[in-house]
Amino acid sequence: AESGDLAGLRFVVSAGPTYEDLDPVRYVGNRSSGKMGFAIAAAAARRGAEVALIAGPVHLATPAGVRRTDVRSAAQLRDAVFAALPADVYIGAAAVADYAPRAVADNKIKKSSDTLVLELVPTPDTLAEVAASPSRPRCVVGFAAETQDVEAHARGKLQKKRLDLIAANRVGVQGSGFESDDNALTVYSREAARTLGPAPKTRLADELLDLIAERLRA
Ligand code: C5P
Repeated sequence: AESGDLAGLRFVVSAGPTYEDLDPVRYVGNRSSGKMGFAIAAAAARRGAEVALIAGPVHLATPAGVRRTDVRSAAQLRDAVFAALPADVYIGAAAVADYAPRAVADNKIKKSSDTLVLELVPTPDTLAEVAASPSRPRCVVGFAAETQDVEAHARGKLQKKRLDLIAANRVGVQGSGFESDDNALTVYSREAARTLGPAPKTRLADELLDLIAERLRA
């Protein structure tokens, strides 16, 4: 990690979970802390990049030198990411909900029957849309949090979403994943696989940026 090696580059980074509202008091969410994405945004800014950070609902301070936009839902995240383009690099580190309630109830849903069925509909896939857009950044990077068959799922997403890199991690094991300060990542491209960590997320952020910088130079 050379100081200033990312000067002149624009990064857009998404981080954190999304919350998909059910009614005025409830939502469907997930356990992402946002730490990995915030660490990436902080490291990129420290190395001289211009960084737009699109943050879901998290309790984290804005890193120095980063322009932050707060969002709540997958739909809001999509709009904020596209508003922040063009960029040289998009890093989708947010744990975006794949489904959201079809409609948000105007009033609190009452307890009335033994079972309650929620109807969910797909959210926009921001990462895939960014990678397919006319204003596609030169380097598009996704994350894959998997509980099993990590490599197969990660490689599938790399291809299907037309990514340059995908950083995969196993969730649901100690010292890795959502709430931890440490993580271990395997970063896949079409040609190669590189293992990073286990290490603090701040270190991994710099190592991931090294791989991205390498690709941008090539
Ligand atoms: O398909 P899956 O959700 O596992 O893919 C994870 C990657 O896709 C992450 O980089 C995430 O930010 C992105 N994603 C997205 N919009 C969605 C779902 C996932 O940008 N609706």
